Amino acid sequence: MVQNGSATQDIAALAEKWREKKGSLIMILHEIQNQYGYVPRDVSLKLSKLLDIPMARIYEVITFYNYFKLDPPGKYNISICLGTACYLKGAPELVEEVKSMLNVKEGQTTSDGLFHLDVVRCLGCCGLAPVMMVNGEIHGKVKREEVATILSKYKKEG
Ligand code: FES
Repeated sequence: MVQNGSATQDIAALAEKWREKKGSLIMILHEIQNQYGYVPRDVSLKLSKLLDIPMARIYEVITFYNYFKLDPPGKYNISICLGTACYLKGAPELVEEVKSMLNVKEGQTTSDGLFHLDVVRCLGCCGLAPVMMVNGEIHGKVKREEVATILSKYKKEG
C-alpha cells in the first residue's frame, strides 16, 4: 500500500496515464483501490482537481459499483451472506447483531480499525446457512447469540 508522502505524485502519474483513455475514471479508481484497499476522500479530491471532474461524478461512480470502498478495510473483514438461503435462515438478524455490537453500518469500519462489515450475496456454501465469513474463515449455521463469541475470538487475537 502507498505511503501518504508519495500519494500526490502517484495520483498525478495515474491521472496522466489514463487521461486520454476511454473509461479512464473507473480504471483510475480501480488502481487507487488496489493500492490503498479503498478510495480515500483526499485522493478523490486530488483526482477531481487533476482531471477537472466534479467530486459528485467521482462519488457517483464509487457508490454505483459495490466493489469500491469508501472506508479503509479492517484488520478483520466480516462478510455476512444475504443470499436467499442465508436470508431465509435468519442472516438479517446476524447483520443487525454485528451492527449493534460494533456500532457500524454495512460498508463501514470500526473506529479502532479492527472490524469492517460487508453484506454479500452467496458465499457458495448455502448448506451452512446462515453464513458469516471473517477474513476468509467460514462460520456456518450461526445463531444470533453466537455472534458475540465469534467476534470476541478475533478481538482476543487483536
Ligand atoms: S445463500 Fe448464503 S452461502 Fe449461499
